[in-house]
Amino acid sequence: MPKVLVLNGPNLNMLGVREPGIYGTDTLAGIEAMLHAAAERLGAELDFYQSNHEGALIDRIHAACGVADGILINPGALTHYSYALRDALSTVALPVVEVHLSNIHKREAFRHLSVIAPVAVGQIAGFGAQSYELGLQALLQALKV
Ligand code: DQA
Repeated sequence: MPKVLVLNGPNLNMLGVREPGIYGTDTLAGIEAMLHAAAERLGAELDFYQSNHEGALIDRIHAACGVADGILINPGALTHYSYALRDALSTVALPVVEVHLSNIHKREAFRHLSVIAPVAVGQIAGFGAQSYELGLQALLQALKV
C-alpha cells in the first residue's frame, strides 16, 4: 500500500475561522478525516502533519526519505517564496503534488508564483477542501506510472 506524507504549512491550522470567504468553513481536522476516508477507499496510507514552521516541515520531508512513496503538500504562503522547502522536496526526490484550497492564480499577484510547482508532478488549486482529495487521487495515479 503506498504511503503518502500529507503536509500543511503556516496558518492552515486556522482553517474554519480563517477568511472563510476564501478558504471555506472546513477545519483542518475535517479535511484530515475526509482524506483518511478517501485514502482507505483508494488504498493508501497517510501521515498527516501541519506546522507553522518552515524548518519543522523540512524535517518531516527529510524523515520521509526512504519511508514515504509520495508527498501531498499545501505549503500555504511558503508556496510563494520558500526555496528551502523546494530544495528539501528536490533532495528527497519523491513525487510531489501541490494543492491549494483557493485558486492562487486569480488572487493577488504575489500568489501567482509557486516556487514549489517546478519540483511537483502537478498542482491542484481552487476546489476548496476537495483539492486535497483530487490531489491524493492524482498522486496515487502518478505513483502507478
Ligand atoms: C493557500 C494559498 C496561499 O497563498 C496562502 O498563503 C495559504 C493558503 C491555499 O490553500 O489556498 O496559506 O495555500
